[in-house]
Amino acid sequence: MARTQVTVHADTPAPIFDKRLFGQFAEHLGTGIEDGIWVGKDSAIPNTEGYRTDVLEALKALKVPVVRWPGGCFADEYHWREAIGNPASRKVKINTHWGYVAENNAFGTHEFLNFAERLGAQPYVSGNIGSAPPYEMAEWVEYMTSPIGSSLAKERAANGRDKPWKLAMFGLGNELWGCGGNMLPEYAANLTRRYATFVKVPAGEHVMKIASGANDADYNWTEVMMKMAAGSFDGIGVHYYTIPYDWSHKGAAIGFDEDQWARTLAKTLHMDELVTRHAAIMDKYDPKKRVALLVDEWGTWYDQDPGTHPGFLRQQNSLRDAMVASLNFDIFARHTDRLRGANIAQMVNVLQAMLLTDGPRMVKTPTYYAFDLYKGFMDGAVLPVDIRTHDYTKNEWSLKAISSSAVKGTDGVMRIALTNVDPDTAEPVVVTLDGAHAKSVTGRILTASTIDAHNTFDAPSAVVPAAFKGAKITADTITLTMPAKSIVMLELR
Ligand code: AHR
Repeated sequence: MARTQVTVHADTPAPIFDKRLFGQFAEHLGTGIEDGIWVGKDSAIPNTEGYRTDVLEALKALKVPVVRWPGGCFADEYHWREAIGNPASRKVKINTHWGYVAENNAFGTHEFLNFAERLGAQPYVSGNIGSAPPYEMAEWVEYMTSPIGSSLAKERAANGRDKPWKLAMFGLGNELWGCGGNMLPEYAANLTRRYATFVKVPAGEHVMKIASGANDADYNWTEVMMKMAAGSFDGIGVHYYTIPYDWSHKGAAIGFDEDQWARTLAKTLHMDELVTRHAAIMDKYDPKKRVALLVDEWGTWYDQDPGTHPGFLRQQNSLRDAMVASLNFDIFARHTDRLRGANIAQMVNVLQAMLLTDGPRMVKTPTYYAFDLYKGFMDGAVLPVDIRTHDYTKNEWSLKAISSSAVKGTDGVMRIALTNVDPDTAEPVVVTLDGAHAKSVTGRILTASTIDAHNTFDAPSAVVPAAFKGAKITADTITLTMPAKSIVMLELR
């Protein structure tokens, strides 16, 4: 008998896997935006109205549902007026958080909202609560959304955009407990109430107001925000980064050993406890689950790549990162009653990026391909799974060998995701469908020969998905052997 048995409860669907759980974060940080997304119309790098064509096309293929911008820590020092109008007259300021470099503001409100529109993504704009008055924020929202011929709407039109944009989400500051103002939770809750009052969109429209949530396991933050201010917001965004060691020595992005592989994957599973406990606090104050929990920032954070600019948070991305993504998606699937959004940090060139660029070259990372494998989960009905498996253990790190989640997609296709975290041992798996039958199974697999396998500009296909033909189906049972260190996405019809 197989050591791993997965039961998919197809007859008791859970709330949908909100597509916004595949959101991405793009901050003015290093080359995340400048050079990563935006090169300007006059660049020799092929571009579409200033956006890198290669990056646009790669992101469109992922069907990115949400882009969060302009920060991050950058948001609470951002003044939108400095980044509209003639690019040559925009304010050049110091990016005090990220490398103390000049920020030319070439990518501002218009460039961001048009970018999101081109991707078909919902724009999520983070407001400045830390260092700007409420009227600055209120005017920004009016500038973006007002259809009436107000002075701000006329100014927007004069800057090239007649029709207002649809603003999906608005962040009430970022990390108010830290770079957003070092506030105590009671003060942050009061400020959240105050600023939320002035976020107004036209009649008949709705913008989701997102409060700045807890750092990691700061449950008191959630408690206070929910108790004092839940009526003022529609969502609250917790931040959790997976760091193999600690903030002073995070660990390398590649060239690591199996201990670091295991500790990284074990530490990323902390997300499950975090979401469970933050959600339980929210249940006390919002039993009807009106307020969404978002994981506003998540992903791996390693020591920056050797030789890269300090403060630019540039890191390679390996098969391990793809595993971090799949394990987190499986966790998200267990919490869709409350969890309705997440933004990986970040989109291009920063932290656990989808894409890396260098001048005219671009490469898709293993994380990109993990997102690609799972994209059929978007808005699908979650099918709860039970997993009986054994532990994979390395030194003091121990985790279940197999992780899994499943949905019935909006196209009617049942999708079952499986991850084998064991780097050396293949795992026979039996999947039983409870309450469903299928006639055929196809699959795709993401794996590689080494734990730190990664794609480079010269070898961009070291970690790419391939067809998986190893699954056999008989009505309600699927049998397969999961290769070591692999992610498999099955599709059942
Ligand atoms: O993503 C990088 C930084 O991490 C963000 O600016 C901040 O919100 C978080 O601390």
